[in-house]
Amino acid sequence: MRSVVILSFLLLGLATVVVQGQVELSTPGPLFTPDPEDDSTPNPEGDSSTEITTEGIPDADTEELPLAEECDEELCKLPDCRCSSTDIPGGLLPRDTPQFVTITFDDGVNVRNTETYRDILYGRNNSNGCPAGATFYVSHEYTNYRFVNELYNQGYEIALHSISHRIPQDYWATASYDVIKQEIADQKGQISHFANIPFESIKGVRLPFLQMSGNISFQVMADHGLEYDSSWPTTAFRDPGLWPYTLDYASIQDCIVPPCPTASIPKPWIQPMVSWTDLGGFPCAMADGCFFTPAMDDEEGWYQFIVGNFERHYLGNRAPFGFYVHEWYLASNPAVQAAFIRFTDLISNLSDAFMVNASEVIDWVKNPIPVGEYREKPCREWSTASCAAQPDCGPLLGPNAMNYWMGACNVCPRVYPWTGNPLGQ
Ligand SMILES: *[C@@H]1O[C@H](CO)[C@@H](O)[C@H](O)[C@H]1NC(C)=O
Ligand SMILES: *[C@@H]1O[C@H](CO)[C@@H](O)[C@H](O)[C@H]1NC(C)=O
Ligand SMILES: *[C@@H]1O[C@H](CO)[C@@H](O)[C@H](O)[C@H]1NC(C)=O
Ligand SMILES: *[C@@H]1O[C@H](CO)[C@@H](O)[C@H](O)[C@H]1NC(C)=O
Ligand SMILES: [Zn+2]
Repeated sequence: MRSVVILSFLLLGLATVVVQGQVELSTPGPLFTPDPEDDSTPNPEGDSSTEITTEGIPDADTEELPLAEECDEELCKLPDCRCSSTDIPGGLLPRDTPQFVTITFDDGVNVRNTETYRDILYGRNNSNGCPAGATFYVSHEYTNYRFVNELYNQGYEIALHSISHRIPQDYWATASYDVIKQEIADQKGQISHFANIPFESIKGVRLPFLQMSGNISFQVMADHGLEYDSSWPTTAFRDPGLWPYTLDYASIQDCIVPPCPTASIPKPWIQPMVSWTDLGGFPCAMADGCFFTPAMDDEEGWYQFIVGNFERHYLGNRAPFGFYVHEWYLASNPAVQAAFIRFTDLISNLSDAFMVNASEVIDWVKNPIPVGEYREKPCREWSTASCAAQPDCGPLLGPNAMNYWMGACNVCPRVYPWTGNPLGQ
């Protein structure tokens, strides 16, 4: 009796998801679950924070951009142009191509999630003896910049994930040039200032909820020296996987969360988020967005699930393999965290696979060299950034009359930094 009930429940659930799966091919939704807010503190904005609207804010750049044309491989050449394709850069064979693994974490950086990062990432090497990289897409709200400074000093890449990370998702879909400039371009100066890290070290962008705003964010990136975006999932180019490319010419990439860029915008690179395939065959852009997963307490199942997705890249065209996840997912599922560590142990043991920060992938694609040569390169170096020993700043008056506390590496701001006043002056 009971098993019948459970079975029909499961079948019902399956049917729902299959129906959704078809719908999702053209519209955003549950398969690409909006990434959850930093969970340590409730979002004070709620649904009603609409005082900043996109209406009425004039576009800084109103001139029409040229429509991107079909890519011409004769005209579009490395290091500054690459057609969207699954071809390996430099015409290398898969066995001569380094398999890059990009581990990324999104959202606010605080004392609690930094403890996880210390446990699972710090001190890890690749098989060539160089430190393993990872990238943090940091959103401003609730971030303690003392820990951003620490992550940078450990050699990890710090990248942008917006100042407000606000809801609704449509705010991002319909954002004007000035809104994205305030959320993303201004955030570069903000992080560099409060974490005291070099301005030029910040190169990457991941938009909240993976919600692009057509051409806009790429225009802002081109105008403000931001090198690559990693917001755009692909489900069509999983096997073989899509390699990074530029927007000089029209992209072949499937548009999962429209609007996607269609103008010709030289300079910024797209680092596609090549989806994983879950146990039901459905795509997931973020590891914590997969639906049909092994049981959450099944470490061996999770390890096999991760390795199975990795092998599609490693035994295929070696397109960079992304492990895109939020810290809370690992911290609240110890078996998944253990499987993650076993996976990184496996990569550390492979002579032709490397955990790197996302900007290193773009560096390699611009100037592809065979894996043997890559292994022998000197390890990347970075100079450490100081952070003044001082208590957290606060209380600082922020949006919606909220009071915030914020760790910073230099002089405390007057009010809580926010869009339009990124340094809190
Ligand atoms: C992007 O720019 C192209 C070329 O100007 C234009 O046709 C397209 O509508 C723009 N996309 C959006 C979402 O505005
Ligand atoms: C990583 O390599 C460095 C030298 O490059 C070495 O000092 C360190 O002990 C290694 N760490 C681990 C965990 O093997
Ligand atoms: C990321 O890797 C590149 C290439 O090795 C290195 O030059 C850069 O300093 C790294 N970025 C950070 C922020 O560590
Ligand atoms: C990595 O290599 C070490 C030493 O050979 C071995 O003990 C360990 O089991 C390997 N780990 C994985 C995950 O392959
Ligand atoms: Zn996020």
